[in-house]
Amino acid sequence: TITRVRAREVLDCRGLPTVQVDLELDGAHLATADVPSGRSTGSNEARELRDGGSRFGGFGVLGAVGAVNGELADALVGRTVDSQRELDARLIALDGTPDKGRLGANALLPISLAFARAAAARTGQPLYRALNADAHVLPAPLVNLINGGKHASNDLDMQEVIVIPVGAGSMLEALQWSTEIDLALAEILLERFGKAALNTGDEGGFAPQLSRVEEALELLHEAVAAAGYASGCVYGLDAASTHWYDPATDRYTLAGETLDRDALIERYLTLIADYGIVTIEDPLQEEDFDGFAELTRASGIQIVADDLTVTNPARIERAVAAGAGNSLLWKVNQIGTLSEALDAANAAHRAGWTVVVSERSGETEDAIIADLVVALGAGQIKTGAPIRGERTAKYNRLLRIEEELGATARYAGDALPAPALS
Ligand code: PGA
Ligand code: ZN
Repeated sequence: TITRVRAREVLDCRGLPTVQVDLELDGAHLATADVPSGRSTGSNEARELRDGGSRFGGFGVLGAVGAVNGELADALVGRTVDSQRELDARLIALDGTPDKGRLGANALLPISLAFARAAAARTGQPLYRALNADAHVLPAPLVNLINGGKHASNDLDMQEVIVIPVGAGSMLEALQWSTEIDLALAEILLERFGKAALNTGDEGGFAPQLSRVEEALELLHEAVAAAGYASGCVYGLDAASTHWYDPATDRYTLAGETLDRDALIERYLTLIADYGIVTIEDPLQEEDFDGFAELTRASGIQIVADDLTVTNPARIERAVAAGAGNSLLWKVNQIGTLSEALDAANAAHRAGWTVVVSERSGETEDAIIADLVVALGAGQIKTGAPIRGERTAKYNRLLRIEEELGATARYAGDALPAPALS
């Protein structure tokens, strides 16, 4: 029985308000969950409600908080809810809209996640094990060390330039390598561009004043080599290309150059060949299923759908049918309940797609995705650079899980192709 549901405004890592919910089961098991927030969002995501007006620059969430403490608490408190699925079905029905725009995905999701935690607490199990008794895979981190796009104030169009320490032997070693590479990158940036290049973007990666992704990849390669991990690392990009695409002309603008879809695909094939890139997210704009399919076929690498599929089972089905990608970026707040997000991951797995569990750029200290990535056995996580509390909260939770699993823990260095050794 749900005995308490209570929401409040708390601040995310950008200092903007978000919704935190306490949910209690049987008067004994109290759990809390926060909802994160994106900045380079897809247009087909579930709706996040913001108050508007001048309070918090319009970003207040008192409306969503009021929906939790009013209508949703009235409907849930005192009710016996037997499963996550039953709760989430009730949340979806109470909202009653396809995009959760009436009560807000930011009102529904923290209830859904806090319930998962409280239900796990009732069984005395950590969340990852309550969701999957056999959970034992620690994910390879897709570490975003150079930020651009909407996450940084430089002119780099591509949002994330990523290194993946696939050759590490454990989560702890993967983070050790990541930090050593980040330190080496800092030295290179300082020497070449001066102090201002050490400013960081929303996900903790450096945001040097450069515009060409080739230059960012060269810097990252240099840092990896300087740290001594050249043979153990592979590379990735989140292009987030919707945000540098102009629907009026059907053209992309990349480092000042205007490209059509075919020219952009050619550019990616060159980047893949030149820089050891094994994964690219959102290479084409969020409605270009055909373009995704073409690049997936032509490249043979992991092509990740984020804004294209928005963790939405219906859009995933469409992408799978079209061959538009072979990997799902999985963000629970894009869809708004845990059950639907689990359905999305299952749909991806059934189709033979990989799943990359992801943070949002606007995060809190809530580390629930660490438990969720282990529960899913997804083998890949994207949660920023290994600095700043809202990112290290996830990494640190993964380190605790690794320790707790002991000898059964397996680091998923093989979730991505091994580096081509030269
Ligand atoms: P967002 O970006 O959280 O700002 O939407 C993350 C991503 O595009 O993967
Ligand atoms: Zn993305």
